[in-house]
Amino acid sequence: MKLTEGIRHIIKSINPVYTEQEGSSIARLLVEHLGYKSGPVARIENKDLEEFEISQLEHWIKDLLTNKPVQYVLRYSWFMDRKIFVNENCLIPRQETEEIVLEILKNTEKTFSGNILDIGTGSGCISVSLAMELNFAQIFASDISKGALEVAQRNSFINNVNIEFLHDDVLDPDYSKFPAFDLIVSNPPYVRLLEREKMQSNVLDFEPSDALFVPDNDPLLFYKAIIEFSIKKLNKGGKLYLEINEVFGEEIKIVLHQNGFINITLIKDIHGKDRIIKAQKL
Ligand SMILES: C[S@@+](CC[C@H](N)C(=O)[O-])C[C@H]1O[C@@H](n2cnc3c(N)ncnc32)[C@H](O)[C@@H]1O
Repeated sequence: MKLTEGIRHIIKSINPVYTEQEGSSIARLLVEHLGYKSGPVARIENKDLEEFEISQLEHWIKDLLTNKPVQYVLRYSWFMDRKIFVNENCLIPRQETEEIVLEILKNTEKTFSGNILDIGTGSGCISVSLAMELNFAQIFASDISKGALEVAQRNSFINNVNIEFLHDDVLDPDYSKFPAFDLIVSNPPYVRLLEREKMQSNVLDFEPSDALFVPDNDPLLFYKAIIEFSIKKLNKGGKLYLEINEVFGEEIKIVLHQNGFINITLIKDIHGKDRIIKAQKL
């Protein structure tokens, strides 16, 4: 089978699940993963595929037909232009989350040497990116999921950065495990169960639901817990950065205000929705 035929074969085979356009981007990722340059079909180098490459493609196609996101099929995603290892124990990093990292970097000196904590680190996309950019900071990252911590640890190893990983439940934290911090960041679960209906089945069936959902009757559960944690563990003048559900920006602002935080600012994402809230401890 020639490479161009292979590409057409992928697009056609996954057509029950993906449109032609989605199929062609996925086909590009698959052939790139086999080590081929991709591009418009007519312009790519039309090599004969090896037997093992064809069987690898068939294996990926089978996986894709189950609705598994391509990032889990290939076991990587991109975050801040870096390849991040992922598996079903962690959320696939979202583009909106890059913005919280960029916001922190915008407001933090390169020479910052304080303690930073990423609560609910998942794949480690936030903590690893911060560790790569802020070489003098001490980075800590926690999660309730041991599987996610293994993924994050692997990403810190691949990127050769030093992060202290802590297994902890932010809803019932063991404060003795943590030092004091100068900056706390978190992208906690914030999707209400009632929003499930609007979500695609590849998210619902494959991404860990504990990473996504909060009860409908307590949507600020994690924010209240992180704020309480920050009252105990954030140094005076320390900064808090939270990714939020766009619906709850104003309510989280009120909770921060009630708890004595200052300089509370809501920031919109690339789609114009409230997505980040930052605040400072008095
Ligand atoms: C929305 S995901 C964010 C993952 C990653 N930081 C990112 O931005 O892609 C939320 C993370 O919080 C973790 N988590 C859920 N409940 C938790 C809890 N009670 N304590 C600590 N972490 C928790 C999940 O395992 C998941 O990794």
